[in-house]
Amino acid sequence: MTIQTVILAAGQGKRMHSNVPKVLHTLAGKPLLEYVIDTALTVSPDLSPIIVHGHQSELVRHAFTHYPIQWVEQKEQQGTGHALLQTLPQLASAATHVLILYGDVPLISTTTLQRLIDTTPTAALGILTATLNTPEGYGRIKRDAQNRIMSIVEEKDADEKDRLIKEINTGIYYVPIQQLKRWLPLLNNQNQQKEYYLTDIILQAVAEEMPIHAIQPDMREEISGVNDRSQLASLERFYQSQRIMHFMQQGVTFYDPARVDIRGEVSFGRDVTVDINVIFEGQVKIGKGCVIGPNTIIRNTILGEHVEIKANSVIDGAEIAAHVIVGPFARLRPGTIIAAHAHVGNFVEIKNSVIGEKTKINHLSYVGDSELGRSVNIGAGTITCNYDGFNKHKTIIGDHVQVGSDTTLIAPLVIEENAYIATATTVRKNVPAGALVFNTRDQQVREGWREAYDKKQEKKCVK
Ligand code: UD1
Ligand code: CA
Repeated sequence: MTIQTVILAAGQGKRMHSNVPKVLHTLAGKPLLEYVIDTALTVSPDLSPIIVHGHQSELVRHAFTHYPIQWVEQKEQQGTGHALLQTLPQLASAATHVLILYGDVPLISTTTLQRLIDTTPTAALGILTATLNTPEGYGRIKRDAQNRIMSIVEEKDADEKDRLIKEINTGIYYVPIQQLKRWLPLLNNQNQQKEYYLTDIILQAVAEEMPIHAIQPDMREEISGVNDRSQLASLERFYQSQRIMHFMQQGVTFYDPARVDIRGEVSFGRDVTVDINVIFEGQVKIGKGCVIGPNTIIRNTILGEHVEIKANSVIDGAEIAAHVIVGPFARLRPGTIIAAHAHVGNFVEIKNSVIGEKTKINHLSYVGDSELGRSVNIGAGTITCNYDGFNKHKTIIGDHVQVGSDTTLIAPLVIEENAYIATATTVRKNVPAGALVFNTRDQQVREGWREAYDKKQEKKCVK
């Protein structure tokens, strides 16, 4: 069996009321269509999926240039059957079957599809149906007295009796390609919507006495389509809860599974604890025993074992080794690499810098484009002045250097190991190992200044 996957995605998505094409709206940070493409490629990795697109086609194509896809344009949306008809010239000659999917039904699982493929006899038409308590809006599956599927009737064409049917058409089919090629040009649009209905291939299969094999999905949400933002939001909640459940089963504690969002590819070691209102984004790896405080955002980051991220920190593009403590209120930007046992405290911003083992930057500092050795201590309010208005420059600080509070380090700058920078120093030139650096700014004291000042003011008032 060689399977050609086809994804229908030409619809406008009117009910989204959006300038963004519907299939580019995101679920857990990833475009809806990308879920379906990934699934199609898992089920049939050797043939590029065909995607039927129409509305805002440029934008949609542009979003998936990194995928092997055959794009087929459907200029006018004249129905699902018409959409599939456009793909006929493109169907791989090697293919024996076509698997039809939808760009706005993101959570269809590979297991369900594989089951549909595996259980459908070679010369049969496979269809995925579902039995719903509220079947409104879907096409209904009509069966005969022997329980054989005879047709699908769209809601708009259904009479009162048909509307009571609870078995619906998910729109997902697995069809032998030879028959499909023959059937599609025969479809007509004699129905309420004046559309070419793909569902009418069932009538042709029945007429040719081709067996129709139906299965149901493992979970109802797999076949949920996104038509408006409220459906998108409820699918998001469902998907998030599924993922969190999966991680809980692997030994991660979430203080409140409903108040965590995972958008991207995240892995957790054992015994990680995650407090509330945490967002994970992009590629994230959390080592075992890490503690993630409330209201934090962790994006494209790797945490070693037993790292503690305290409340209200934003970590983006960082690599943090074991036993590091970060936050509260820290901001780590891309290119931050922190070695084991280092401490980064509150209101500290670090960008594109390497921080050595056991180094401490505990309060109110900016460290950019820097390399700090081990056991360095950076005092409160230290700023690396890495940008002169034209170029970025580097600051290099050796092991065991002590930097006093309120120090400005003007890059490019090298401070060699064991140097001691006194408080409130502006360091403009390189510092040799073991040296003490301070600026000569004497403290001037004028005694009785306040009293004299107040008297002056009083005189002014009398005048
Ligand atoms: C379709 C089915 C219905 C099923 C339902 C499941 C038909 C006639 N009806 O109805 O039985 O219960 O899906 O959700 O097939 N599309 C195109 N080009 C078109 C029209 C649609 O690409 O000309 C795409 C849409 O982008 C969408 C999908 O096909 O991804 C389904 O189209 P939609 O209009 O939502 O079909 P329904 O009326 O919901
Ligand atoms: Ca629909």
